[in-house]
Amino acid sequence: MLRFDDRVAIITGAGHGLGRAHALLLAERGAKVVVNDLGGALDGTGASAGPAAEVVELITKNGGQAIANADNVATPEGAGAIVQAALDAFGRVDIVVNNAGILRDRSFGKMTVEEFDAVLAVHVRGSYLVSRAAYPHMKEAGYGRLVNTSSPAGLFGNFGQANYSTAKMGLVGLTKTLGIEGARNGIKANAIAPVAWTRMTESLLPAEFEARFTPERVSALVAYLVHESCEASGEVFSVGGGRVARVFVAEGPGWRSDEPTPEDISDNWAAIMAEQPYVLTAADSMKAML
Ligand code: NAI
Repeated sequence: MLRFDDRVAIITGAGHGLGRAHALLLAERGAKVVVNDLGGALDGTGASAGPAAEVVELITKNGGQAIANADNVATPEGAGAIVQAALDAFGRVDIVVNNAGILRDRSFGKMTVEEFDAVLAVHVRGSYLVSRAAYPHMKEAGYGRLVNTSSPAGLFGNFGQANYSTAKMGLVGLTKTLGIEGARNGIKANAIAPVAWTRMTESLLPAEFEARFTPERVSALVAYLVHESCEASGEVFSVGGGRVARVFVAEGPGWRSDEPTPEDISDNWAAIMAEQPYVLTAADSMKAML
């Protein structure tokens, strides 16, 4: 059984949905958990200490250890306070699951700059800021596990979600670089692109998804990724309804010329668009160009 005794985990946005399920699972397996949640509405407005406190109550009732925190991940002060809460209560931080998120959906032409910025602030800045605050402590310990929460909407695009998909693909870049930089200090970073029935998706998904796409079916992967036995880093996983699959960035064999003209590009479009074989890293891509 994969256990987390003596490990301290911060889960952001853990008052509802996916984060709540991650927090319950890690606590059940021995982790000391900081349950962070600002407690606002789906669009990020408002705040309440209630949701985080309720999850902590449940964990404690089941014999686990947890503290509640209602700070905002999107400000340096808030992110710093979340990590400080872990240090004050439990003396260390081994695990960060960046899960907090909001939606401000609108088609690209109608989306306001404020709606764009608000979504990037929580998902991208929030994940960056909480990881940044935890990083020196992980580095000092020579150990850390980070999970960022991307989305199929980011990997593949989705109508009405220009802000959200920009943010979610941004987290893939952050995860890949953290995976590279963290390697020398025992820090692993991975991302998930989940599908689950939560307040964020209940009005979008068909009703029969509720029983199949439970948050718990996503949390199993998250728990594995933040366990000390997990060797993966810089990876992205599609996860939902009990299925887990690696997602990777691919590059085709390509086409080249010493002096390519726009007409050459047009004439060789089929070769440029060819899909096999896959190229997985920046180094592989450079090798193909050379
Ligand atoms: P949810 O709305 O139930 O949970 C998100 C939580 O984040 C809420 O409890 C909210 O209060 C909290 N939060 C929002 N802004 C915050 C802030 N600034 N600081 C601290 N906490 C904040 O939604 P769900 O579905 O559980 O989402 C969790 C994560 O999974 C999000 O990042 C979401 O974008 C992502 N996701 C969910 C999918 C799904 O199918 N449910 C699909 C793809 C991604």
